[in-house]
Amino acid sequence: MSEDILREGLRVGSVFKNEHTLDLSYIPPRLPHREHEYRILTRIFRSLVSEPGSMASKVTIVGSTGVGKTVLARKFCSDLEKICIDKGIRLNSVYINAQEFRGSPHTILTTVASRIIPDIPSRGFSFEEILSFLLKALDDNDCYLLLTLDEVEALLTSKGVKLLISLSRLYEMSMGSKQRVHLILIVRDIEALRNNLSTPILETLQGYVLDLHSYTRSEVYDIVKYRADLAFKYGAISDEALRLVTDICSSSGNIRWAVELLLKAGRYADSVGSRIVLPIHIRAIQQSVVYSIIPVRDNIRNLADHELLLLLAVARISQFSPEEAYFPTGRVEEAYRVVCEEYGVEPKKHTQIWNYMKTLSIAGLIEVKPSSVGYRGKTTLIGLPVQPEVIARSIEDELSRRNFKAMF
Ligand SMILES: Nc1ncnc2c1ncn2[C@@H]1O[C@H](COP(=O)(O)OP(=O)(O)OP(=O)(O)O)[C@@H](O)[C@H]1O
Ligand SMILES: [Mg+2]
Repeated sequence: MSEDILREGLRVGSVFKNEHTLDLSYIPPRLPHREHEYRILTRIFRSLVSEPGSMASKVTIVGSTGVGKTVLARKFCSDLEKICIDKGIRLNSVYINAQEFRGSPHTILTTVASRIIPDIPSRGFSFEEILSFLLKALDDNDCYLLLTLDEVEALLTSKGVKLLISLSRLYEMSMGSKQRVHLILIVRDIEALRNNLSTPILETLQGYVLDLHSYTRSEVYDIVKYRADLAFKYGAISDEALRLVTDICSSSGNIRWAVELLLKAGRYADSVGSRIVLPIHIRAIQQSVVYSIIPVRDNIRNLADHELLLLLAVARISQFSPEEAYFPTGRVEEAYRVVCEEYGVEPKKHTQIWNYMKTLSIAGLIEVKPSSVGYRGKTTLIGLPVQPEVIARSIEDELSRRNFKAMF
């Protein structure tokens, strides 16, 4: 209790209550929209608890980047370990990210073995020898090993494949005796395994293939909201900001990007002294990443005069309404007419403006989306994926280079 007060006190002036919950290694108490997959894992590993040693449980988790493969496996293994402790089953859960051991399957194997046999020498033994020491140690101590091999793609080299072949032999070696090694493989694309391993090896290792679907838009929103509730103080992030993070991440379904955006936008809000994370902070972070990919200045040079004026209008309203992420086209057109007046030029008509919007959208300088509930009637909404101050300044410079003079 007093520790909580201290923590809270030290956080005065920050939008965060628990910033560390946005660390990539943090395992949240719940995984919304992965309950079904968690239940499947429970079924696969049930015998490990009900009849230890009766069979080897194996699963291969597949799915694109950021869909929660690693966090699902890590959460499941840590929960299973706790249950095994309660039941008096000696389970050693070992997590290995093969990518981090790039090029060294031998180090992977000795690392795994050292968790069961702490004084095992790190050199001088073949894969098979190490595996047979491992099996013997598990037998001698009546232990079980739950091995998670993440990013298995990194093992699809000639040396790495040898390790996988040896692992499959381990199952042959332990036939007829207690099954002590359980396996979770994680790979983005199952085809990579199929193309590199022979059918018998694949059949021995892969087990049940658990395919994690990409999250839908509303699932992304729920997860973003959940992670924000864990990390931020009550009311310290606006719903508009959460919806913007959802928009940015829902086409890919990559929650890693969403978690990173929340963390960086929160830190940014703190650094500019804002008590609430707003769309403008999310945009600033998105832009700092996107900026390096899209050379905005070059894009601006290629725009026609009225495209520049229209983009300046979008930048101005984004600047003056930092709490909003999108603006209806009517408001953008109004702002565009004001900008035209400022520069003393005749504004273009509606259809022409619409064509400019299309060009700006294709260039990635604005985002266009249909309105959802909350707006009267149907309209199109415009958002600016880059920081408004920066883009406004670049446009003003470009306009003056083209001899446009602001009248006021
Ligand atoms: N259902 C969920 N609920 C809460 N957080 C989630 C959920 N799914 C993913 N995350 C979070 O999203 C981030 C990315 O997840 P994770 O690292 O597990 O993805 P991955 O599928 O392993 O991606 P990669 O293929 O790039 O390794 C992590 O911070 C994770 O905690
Ligand atoms: Mg992963």
